[in-house]
Amino acid sequence: MRVGYVQFAPSLGDLDATLGNLEELLPRVMPADLIVLPELCNSGYNFASREQAISTAEQITDSSFIAFLAEHCRKRRCHIVSGFNEREGERLYNSAVFVGPSGCSGLYRKLHLFYREQDFFEPGNVGLPVFECGPAKIGIQVCFDWLFPESWRVLAIQSADIICHPCNLVLPGMCQRAIPIHAMINRFYIVTANRVGSEGDLSFTGASLIASPRGEVLTQGPPDTAHVSVVDVDLSRSRDKQITPMNHLIQCRRPDQYGLLTE
Ligand code: ACM
Repeated sequence: MRVGYVQFAPSLGDLDATLGNLEELLPRVMPADLIVLPELCNSGYNFASREQAISTAEQITDSSFIAFLAEHCRKRRCHIVSGFNEREGERLYNSAVFVGPSGCSGLYRKLHLFYREQDFFEPGNVGLPVFECGPAKIGIQVCFDWLFPESWRVLAIQSADIICHPCNLVLPGMCQRAIPIHAMINRFYIVTANRVGSEGDLSFTGASLIASPRGEVLTQGPPDTAHVSVVDVDLSRSRDKQITPMNHLIQCRRPDQYGLLTE
């Protein structure tokens, strides 16, 4: 199976410009079964007001962004996970959509909202679902979720092989150092698709990467320019959770001793 990412600068409040960029970049991720795009890819990130956040959001069921992605999936027989500014009624969610040839078939809503995101978005309320993508099971985390090992572990317990991680990272270098460790201690692949460029007082840190179940960095982008990459993943590596003949990563956990984690 081949997985990749597109690192670029979505345009704040200008979906047509973003789609123009993707039209050029997506075909360069070739061939790929699964492609990951950055956080809030349909809207941009640093909203000046709640009105701007609302006016750039879309409903899952009526989204020209999702229709565009689905068309690419039909042409190239692939799937895409993308950050998505989602409106449901009066509420906004910092979401990620799982899109295939027939449209959106999966949704995750960011659990851990970062800084001023809390002015615009509701915290996620759909848990940590896992989706079938061809032979793989995939899970999703969005950007600042990186700092919470609990949610990565919940995806490992559900046998996720690949975690798709749309990002708009602003704290230099921190997440990019943690991702190979999350991959190693959960033995799954992680595709972190970060953005570049700046919006107002925020600069985004690029350096998107794909990490292996052994904690290797298989590919990494530059900090400041658009970049695409695609690698082969071997699902037998994410499914081998046997650390020694007597130690299994999932079975050797002691949840009876971890009560504090869920208080
Ligand atoms: C972030 O969660 N966008 C830093």
